[in-house]
Amino acid sequence: MLSLKRAKRAGDGDVPVAAGEAPAWGDADDGPVLSLSGIGRTYESGDVEVNALADVHLEVQRGEYVSIVGPSGSGKSTLLNILGLLDRPTSGSYLFEGREVATLDEAARTAVRGRRIGFVFQSFHLLSHRSVVENVSLSMLYTDVPARERAERARAALASVGLEHRADFTPTRLSGGERQRVAIARAIVAEPAVMLADEPTGNLDSRTSESILELFASLREQGLTLVMITHDSSVAARADRSVSIRDGRLTVEEAR
Ligand SMILES: Nc1ncnc2c1ncn2[C@@H]1O[C@H](COP(=O)(O)OP(=O)(O)O)[C@@H](O)[C@H]1O
Ligand SMILES: [Mg+2]
Repeated sequence: MLSLKRAKRAGDGDVPVAAGEAPAWGDADDGPVLSLSGIGRTYESGDVEVNALADVHLEVQRGEYVSIVGPSGSGKSTLLNILGLLDRPTSGSYLFEGREVATLDEAARTAVRGRRIGFVFQSFHLLSHRSVVENVSLSMLYTDVPARERAERARAALASVGLEHRADFTPTRLSGGERQRVAIARAIVAEPAVMLADEPTGNLDSRTSESILELFASLREQGLTLVMITHDSSVAARADRSVSIRDGRLTVEEAR
């Protein structure tokens, strides 16, 4: 289970810190979580072809925190959608936990997505008419977590992001930073193999962004595999490793 507790700090910037033993993220095998080779994605719009991704190679190991940084239109969201099995590549191979998923049927891809991948988006994507704890527990609908355990797991995940006291609120009553913490609790509650974040600080002020980045660092310390997409190089620099994307191609891999 999640083992985070809150450090004392003022206001929205309450920062959970790791405590006790680490949760068992993913499985114990040694292979990469994600492995893309020669991935391309071409959009056809009318007579025009857009090569949104071309010949992308990327490997992410278990427990790694990788950022992908590039300007608007460079192919970041296209890449995240492919990584998250929300979209299929038009060429290349994608191994997820060692299994080819590019050509897998849609039902099997949905199962992998629901059980093994957590998502965090710029605009949170919470259900505004559901309580915070329902937002988190509904994400376990398609997992193996027994129904009777979901509410308890959701509350534990909320505690791990410092929001147990907001469990019964609706998201509309929360600040932006709190909403993103709910989204993070939702992303990690089923202990996925990887959390994918698309511009997770894009809608937040700098102080709140900092607290979210500290939360990511804390989750990474507990062994969560994290891929974060951003246009902001100072945000990207918070990862263990940063990969640049430009015109649909990954460029320099910077070891840090
Ligand atoms: N559904 C689509 N149809 C046609 N072109 C698209 C579509 N989605 C994205 N593109 C194009 O692919 C390129 C990459 O887009 P995107 O992945 O959204 O970039 P980013 O997230 O880095 O801003 C852009 O040129 C964009 O216009
Ligand atoms: Mg984008």
